[in-house]
Amino acid sequence: MSTLAPTAGIDWDRVRADFPLLRREVHGKPLVYFDSANTGQKPASVIETVDAFYRRHNANVSRAVHALGSEATESYEATRTRLAQHVNVAANELVLTSGTTFAINLVAYSWGLSNLKAGDVVLLTRMEHHANIVPWQLICERTGAKIRVAELHPDGSLDLDALHAAMTPDVKLLGVAHVSNVLGTINPVAAICREARKRGITTVVDGSQALPHMTVDIAAIGCDFYAFTGHKMCGPTGTGALWARRALLESMPPFLGGGEMIKEVRLDEATIFNDPPHRFEAGTPNIAGHIGLGAAVAYLDGIGMDAIAAREAELLAHLTEEMQSVDGLRIIGTAAKKAAVVSFLVEGAHAHDLATLLDLEGVAVRSGHHCAHPLMKFFGVPATCRASLAFYNTHDEIEAFIAALHKVRRLLG
Ligand SMILES: Cc1ncc(COP(=O)(O)O)c(C=O)c1O
Repeated sequence: MSTLAPTAGIDWDRVRADFPLLRREVHGKPLVYFDSANTGQKPASVIETVDAFYRRHNANVSRAVHALGSEATESYEATRTRLAQHVNVAANELVLTSGTTFAINLVAYSWGLSNLKAGDVVLLTRMEHHANIVPWQLICERTGAKIRVAELHPDGSLDLDALHAAMTPDVKLLGVAHVSNVLGTINPVAAICREARKRGITTVVDGSQALPHMTVDIAAIGCDFYAFTGHKMCGPTGTGALWARRALLESMPPFLGGGEMIKEVRLDEATIFNDPPHRFEAGTPNIAGHIGLGAAVAYLDGIGMDAIAAREAELLAHLTEEMQSVDGLRIIGTAAKKAAVVSFLVEGAHAHDLATLLDLEGVAVRSGHHCAHPLMKFFGVPATCRASLAFYNTHDEIEAFIAALHKVRRLLG
């Protein structure tokens, strides 16, 4: 059996050189981009694919029989196939969307409006992004269902006993993040979905922060819906997908009406809708963006998600250790299983001031509530700073970030 580490033989400097933007300076300093949980940077192959689409192939999909139309449709559908292989599902179960927000709204408005009623409960974890909370609030208002919250341990891991205890017979849907965008906590979604399935609860997993960091095998997770976004995994903005089992998709009514989602529009009788996944893809989609996402997946597969996970684990360990050297710094989210996302606060400094001063040192981190108000409330803070890494970051950047943190700490007294 091979004992080679998944990162063996990978020249990470060469990988980094694939990202043109990472060569730039900010405020006269080399850029340290630690905001990949917000949006990821794009390798040249993705940028060139989008450029080539508009220069050579631009046409609408599924509408024209001419050569350009066929080329555009083929490349667009090839992305669906490539993405499906990447997450181990069938291509005809993958709805291409503008991202996770759209995907979860699709589940809420299509599945939720038809399946929830007064007396039902939607169970959400405390660490959900607003994209997996607000759509459910809107649907609960309309159906009379209620939201219940599953709480966390102080380290930012899910209290699994409490979560299982909260799965009472009135719970119809469970929404859970695969990886927290604020804490980096990796949730044991396969085990959680198994418990939910035993109780007949439909599950929606928000995979936005999982796909950029690790191998995701949706079939092995055993959820009902899995949503993800393309721009955090090296793809263009406005791309992403929703996966659901074919039978479930077939049982769902359309969410938006328009072109592409119909078989036949009749004015004197009911319109006949298209089969999934096209039933849920009304209107002209983000064609160039999704073709770019196909290139992003090809790029990630070329490196290998296990190698990416191992590289990021190394960077996270280095970052976490070095951050302990900064006086008054508190890391929020210290669960044992984490992706390379570190939220922190420095005593006496507001998160926005910290981020602004770090920016002057060339370091890009995000500050704010990270679209997770309920989680901020749990930790009793209005905002945090968040350093989020990707495989294209380096150990030298971690050193530069720590030096900048020490400098900012001195400046703030
Ligand atoms: C955990 C999580 N869910 C959902 C979203 C929303 O993704 P998008 O804005 O791409 O739809 C994000 C983006 O920050 C996220 O981190």
